[in-house]
Amino acid sequence: MSRVSIEEKIEQLKMEKDAIILAHYYVPAEVQAVADFVGDSYALAKKAKEAPQRVICFAGVNFMGESAKILSPEKTVLVPDLEADCPMAHMVTPEKIKDMREKYEDLAVVCYINSTAEIKEYCDVTVTSSNALKVVSQLSEKNIFFVPDENLGRYIAQQLPEKNFIFNDGYCHVHAALTKEQVAAEKERHPAAKVLAHPECTGEVLQLADYIGSTSGIINHATESDHDEFIICTENGVAYELKQKNPTKKFYFIDDGPLCPDMKRITLEKLVNSLESLSPTIEMNETKIQQAKAPLERMLELAK
Ligand code: 13P
Ligand code: SF4
Repeated sequence: MSRVSIEEKIEQLKMEKDAIILAHYYVPAEVQAVADFVGDSYALAKKAKEAPQRVICFAGVNFMGESAKILSPEKTVLVPDLEADCPMAHMVTPEKIKDMREKYEDLAVVCYINSTAEIKEYCDVTVTSSNALKVVSQLSEKNIFFVPDENLGRYIAQQLPEKNFIFNDGYCHVHAALTKEQVAAEKERHPAAKVLAHPECTGEVLQLADYIGSTSGIINHATESDHDEFIICTENGVAYELKQKNPTKKFYFIDDGPLCPDMKRITLEKLVNSLESLSPTIEMNETKIQQAKAPLERMLELAK
């Protein structure tokens, strides 16, 4: 099947099946190109809730498809490869959350959206990297157990000194692998470039950043900036949108990466198969959906 025909096929299937394709900025460029909407995790969650189509095909990792199902349980939610699973989503256990609830009074459990549906059931509110500060600053509890990502938790904690944060030792292996030495070396090669970093990076890398934000935040910042050279400290998939919006600006990535192997599992061929067969789908029972829904809905309310 030629590339043109595969894209046409996807267009045809979208109409036939009444489907919308939602994609994260880290999936391959050719998949972003056929998506109806590409966004960061927050924008994707909102879009999944509002989309009028009967079928949501999620070009991203499992937890994103789960969030879409929880927010729109009446819809068929497809994730074209169910093995596309974010390892960080599994880096905290319900037992650990229960222990913290016993240990601390006046505690809110704040869960990064990069977590399983099971974990969300045990949390008070979810956050994404673009709304975490806004959401956590509105919580009345003094103690915040932030799961699963320690780096994002520490970055938010620095900006909310009035809260007592307790961290969990989860991390994104893609962002945590970037070192301050690599960023400093890139900066030496491109002294005029501004460093834009995702808050899943380590504190040492974030210290070298001129701007810290979500994938959308990084793209918007580079687009609105007067500067024309940037060192980008996040997954390489954002290069597609950065270049689309800024064809004359220069973007440098560390060692031409980093790449998230799970996001890169989503291919055009898998999109076609998934739309044709309406599988694989995200399946969750009604009780689980109801239990995981409250923290997601609360995020959407507090982040407005
Ligand atoms: P955002 O797009 O919300 O910045 O999330 C980054 C990420 O790692 C998603 O897996
Ligand atoms: Fe998970 Fe990191 Fe991949 Fe995002 S980039 S899906 S946080 S492993």
